[in-house]
Amino acid sequence: MPEFLSHLLAVQESYDTVAAAYAGMVPPPSRLDPVSRGMLDVFAEAVGNAGAVADVGCGPGKVAAYLAERGVADVFGVDLSLGMVDQARQAYPHLPFVVGSMTALPVSDGALGGVLAYYSTHHTPPEELPLVFGEFHRVLTPGGHLMLAGHVGDEDGDSDGERLRPTEAYGGLPLSYTSYLLPPGRIAELLGQAGFVLTARLTQEPGEGPQRRFGTFFARKPDGSYGW
Ligand SMILES: C[S@@+](CC[C@H](N)C(=O)[O-])C[C@H]1O[C@@H](n2cnc3c(N)ncnc32)[C@H](O)[C@@H]1O
Repeated sequence: MPEFLSHLLAVQESYDTVAAAYAGMVPPPSRLDPVSRGMLDVFAEAVGNAGAVADVGCGPGKVAAYLAERGVADVFGVDLSLGMVDQARQAYPHLPFVVGSMTALPVSDGALGGVLAYYSTHHTPPEELPLVFGEFHRVLTPGGHLMLAGHVGDEDGDSDGERLRPTEAYGGLPLSYTSYLLPPGRIAELLGQAGFVLTARLTQEPGEGPQRRFGTFFARKPDGSYGW
């Protein structure tokens, strides 16, 4: 089996297993630290009137629901795990959630004003990230906004990232996925290579907010102009 397929199966199986526990344990954005919450508020303001917005790797849908509460009128979620999508549909029946992979998004070219990938790209092996970032670029309209946020590694670490292979989480449930913690600069470089213009980048150290080093990247698909 090709490596990229086996990673998708491991992610899907792991999140199907932990979906209910994850939905019960992970707080909604309204209970995040102010910096993390503020980054989502910035994104919501940027994409509020920009057309359809995808929350890619939406998990139980809490972030998509938060964006909707913040005025993002046309937001939907996509996730590899049917277990996660079921959680999202039960909790937020007024929002659309579909099963799909960020490696081949079920969205036509240029259809979206915004893409959010929140805590969801770190399971993608580094060699597959150009495919994923290419998908984000393909589905965005020119001028569309990308917010990518999640675990990152040391800035001067290996460009392929530190690898974590937890065997259990969310109350002792079994996991088979891998997490890749890439240096923030490497993520920024890959976004640029995919055709994005990086507009802002923030790194939060573990402590008051996220438990691991956390990177947030705002980028746009160029449209010949610049500005919000
Ligand atoms: C840590 S959870 C984050 C969920 C949600 N974004 C949140 O912040 O609560 C990671 C999610 O990304 C999804 N995911 C990972 N790789 C994916 C892929 N290739 N395509 C779609 N979803 C993916 C997983 O199924 C899982 O639901």
